[in-house]
Amino acid sequence: MPRPKVTIFGTGGTIAGSASDACQTTGYAPAVLTVDALIREVPELGLAAQLRSEQLVNVGSPDITSAQLLRMAQRIQRELDGDCHGVVVTHGTDTIEETAFFLELTIKSDKPVVLVGAMRPATAHSADGPMNLLCGVNLAANRCGRKRGVMIVLNDRICAPRFTTKTNANSLDSFKAVEQGYLGVFVNSQPVFYYPPCRPLSHNYFNITACNAAAGLPDVDILYGHLGLRSGLFKAAIEQGAGGIVLAGMGAGCWNTEDGKRIMSFVEKKGRAVPVVASRRTPSGFVGGTANYGLGDSCIGGGFLDPHKCRIQLQLALAAGLDVASIREVFEGNRPGAAAAEVRIREWRIL
Ligand SMILES: *[C@@H]1O[C@H](CO)[C@@H](O)[C@H](O)[C@H]1NC(C)=O
Repeated sequence: MPRPKVTIFGTGGTIAGSASDACQTTGYAPAVLTVDALIREVPELGLAAQLRSEQLVNVGSPDITSAQLLRMAQRIQRELDGDCHGVVVTHGTDTIEETAFFLELTIKSDKPVVLVGAMRPATAHSADGPMNLLCGVNLAANRCGRKRGVMIVLNDRICAPRFTTKTNANSLDSFKAVEQGYLGVFVNSQPVFYYPPCRPLSHNYFNITACNAAAGLPDVDILYGHLGLRSGLFKAAIEQGAGGIVLAGMGAGCWNTEDGKRIMSFVEKKGRAVPVVASRRTPSGFVGGTANYGLGDSCIGGGFLDPHKCRIQLQLALAAGLDVASIREVFEGNRPGAAAAEVRIREWRIL
């Protein structure tokens, strides 16, 4: 049997990071090593798969731009449409969940797409990058990874981008979906899933294959709820041209009553429909789109998505030219009490 073809795309991050001594796990330089250097460190990769590699960018993940995300999705889609069995992307962990969720919404393929990062730089004692990369390639090469969308691999776990978040700034067991859990684990670096392939009940696919990647995506700002919040920040965001706003509200997405009124009046006064998606600063839970949150009826509920994932989905919805009613459809597809038990996928095109 010929080994499966797996393509590894490098983007930088801690997995490609370097420090001056082996005890250093903070304050190192990320994105120093190339993807080919990472591959050379793990000879078993070549036994697991016939590898191709390509360096897309080499940056710390906070520096990834929306134009780079679009180019990445277009490049990965082309690769998946070819003869490869699966794709691995090495990525910094700070924003790996955003990139993974973006790819989840913009790639259409049954083939596995696996994002791999590391919490320790390549130069550290017990660096986690090499084992994470081997696990990621084994998953991308395995038939069991098909029809599961995009996955994140770190610390022997297989994670769903929609629900998984970085929970700890330093520790190896940082990536968790506290409520929904992991999809599977690695035993002897081989993937083991807990359940057959499944997709979320409400999913949106944004077709970006024909869009002008260089133009990037519309700006969306996230504003964080807290006591004593100055609502002028919202006015500033709108005046600076935000195409939409995500609110990381208190509790289940709540706002101080007066601020909520002010926010919605800035939005409405501007004379253009600026969609406002309510999310939460709380680590997990559901935010609906009703008037209960001090924000009025025009507010859209972010559901189970974290603010930064609401932002990614709102950017795509704006780029697809959707009006506020359609954006509500995108976000509120899985309402409490909804009778649908079938996966419903809405498709949108970005030109
Ligand atoms: C995406 O859109 C392009 C045209 O822009 C079309 O050719 C292609 O079939 C679409 N892809 C999917 C998966 O629907």
